[in-house]
Amino acid sequence: MNDIKLSARLQKVLDIASGFSSEKKRIIDVGSDHGHLAAVALTDQGFGRALLTDIHEDPARKSRDLMKGLSLDSRSQVICTDGLDGADLEDGDVVVMAGLGGNNMVDIIGRAVNVTEDSILRSVTWVLQPQKSIEILRSFLCEAGFTIKDETVIAERGIYYPIVAASYTGTISSLSLYEKYYGPVLIRKHEEGDVTSKEYFIRLDNSYKLRARGDKEVEMMLKEVVR
Ligand SMILES: C[S@@+](CC[C@H](N)C(=O)[O-])C[C@H]1O[C@@H](n2cnc3c(N)ncnc32)[C@H](O)[C@@H]1O
Repeated sequence: MNDIKLSARLQKVLDIASGFSSEKKRIIDVGSDHGHLAAVALTDQGFGRALLTDIHEDPARKSRDLMKGLSLDSRSQVICTDGLDGADLEDGDVVVMAGLGGNNMVDIIGRAVNVTEDSILRSVTWVLQPQKSIEILRSFLCEAGFTIKDETVIAERGIYYPIVAASYTGTISSLSLYEKYYGPVLIRKHEEGDVTSKEYFIRLDNSYKLRARGDKEVEMMLKEVVR
């Protein structure tokens, strides 16, 4: 236990990561900033080890200090790097990325895919909470051979944060425009009456209606939406 209280958003990201990791050998937090998520993963959620990466030295140093202060330095490694560059993925890893843009995530995952052995890649779960451009991330995942295993929306202080859990299967798929912008799993949850998905979709409907004025793809997508 420690005194760190994660935001509802980060706690949900961590809960999903825990739920997808049977062995909880290692959690990787890319864009770890303060290091809170990894600290709670180690102290409260039973993960054995943590790897934290941040592209900036200042947050990386803060995370190192936190880990040392909590006597977690022997179970954790903090590196200052772009995404996963220089970090080898291991069997059963769960990689979390929260608060980064979708395009940034696509670049990071793409580079990791290029340097990771197929069998390792298939054993890794990715839990992704993009701050923007989730539609680009979804399309990339499906076209690069990932399967979207789950999607969840967490509401915090009036803001809705979608979270995608995915893993590599090698099977390439494509999404309809509706699935790309609203999420294939969220569409199913919405159809099943999930309250948060319903509230989130109302927000999306409104923002996509505005966006459609200057975006042909979104305009076409809205014509596909039948509810
Ligand atoms: C908005 S903060 C999010 C922090 C935390 N993950 C959260 O969700 O609250 C983004 C963090 O990601 C780091 N970051 C941005 N791009 C990165 C990249 N390509 N590789 C590693 N870290 C990155 C930033 O330095 C910053 O600390």
